[in-house]
Amino acid sequence: MDDHLRFDPAKDPRVKSIIRKLQGGRARSDREVAPLFPGFPFDVRLVAGITPIERNGPLDFCIDRPQGMRGWIINLTVDGHGRVFDGAESFVVEPGDLLLFPPKAVHYYGREASASRWWHRWIYFQPRAYWAKWLEWEKQVRDVNILRRKGDDFFEEVFRLFVEVEQLSMLTDTLSIDLAFNRLESILLSCARMDDAALMKNSPIDSRVLAACALISADLQRSLGIREVADHVCLSPSRLSHLFRRHVGMGIVQWRDSQRIQYAMQLLRVTSVPIKSLSQMVGYDDPLYFSRVFRHHTGFSPRSFRVRSMEASPSPALREREG
Ligand code: FCB
Repeated sequence: MDDHLRFDPAKDPRVKSIIRKLQGGRARSDREVAPLFPGFPFDVRLVAGITPIERNGPLDFCIDRPQGMRGWIINLTVDGHGRVFDGAESFVVEPGDLLLFPPKAVHYYGREASASRWWHRWIYFQPRAYWAKWLEWEKQVRDVNILRRKGDDFFEEVFRLFVEVEQLSMLTDTLSIDLAFNRLESILLSCARMDDAALMKNSPIDSRVLAACALISADLQRSLGIREVADHVCLSPSRLSHLFRRHVGMGIVQWRDSQRIQYAMQLLRVTSVPIKSLSQMVGYDDPLYFSRVFRHHTGFSPRSFRVRSMEASPSPALREREG
């Protein structure tokens, strides 16, 4: 392990358990290690893990996803060295370096040939709408955002948050997934704060847009019209629509749908409320329309989403399909 680190990634009991399983040959069928092998569907809203690649070990292959993924990935090197891409564009990552892959960006990475290991933590996620501004860093190679190590304190803090996201994402109560998202938001904010380009772009979100978001989220079940929301924040509907799109990166209705679907995923995962009632609970009177919107966002019907979530139990990871 890197000498000047004040923590050891291998001390984490979960990491120890993963390593034991990998060494014992218990792999693809095991929930903890399955995501580390090709073929895992990544049909989740958030899943986090660590990939401890050792030279000639079971994970010592190149992660190769030419079409990228449906969601985002943030990746933190915690030990050893990795190489991303091949040919002229390839580059090496070392402990403390962060990579951020947008959907569809090519994934092609593995242990750097001269290194004995490459351990990296990663989080696969579907971002919240207002995160858009923090998801583009200054340095990029083929759409992959790169943030080089910013000192021990920052590394340690981000490392801790990665571990917390992973722990929280394994719990089954309704609020844990929100806590995991909260920690992930801290990671992205901290990265944006360290990144000059993101910092410059990062003018605060307009308070009226925030007030509109708060009003909508306070009662997702209610179908407020744009005029009502605009009145509430003392803007004209067209001014609000314009500001909203500028600050949030999508329209109000689209944003509300994405919030409703995230809530629906949570309810499907942790309750047995019938889908008809559930669609009303999240704001859709017409269950068929709800199913359409749900499928559009997740790639699954609500029913098959629930079945798949149950199969994956006890993980609370909320299912969404990799593209
Ligand atoms: C694992 C990889 C890891 C990350 C996740 C999404 O298989 O080891 O780097 O790409 O998938």
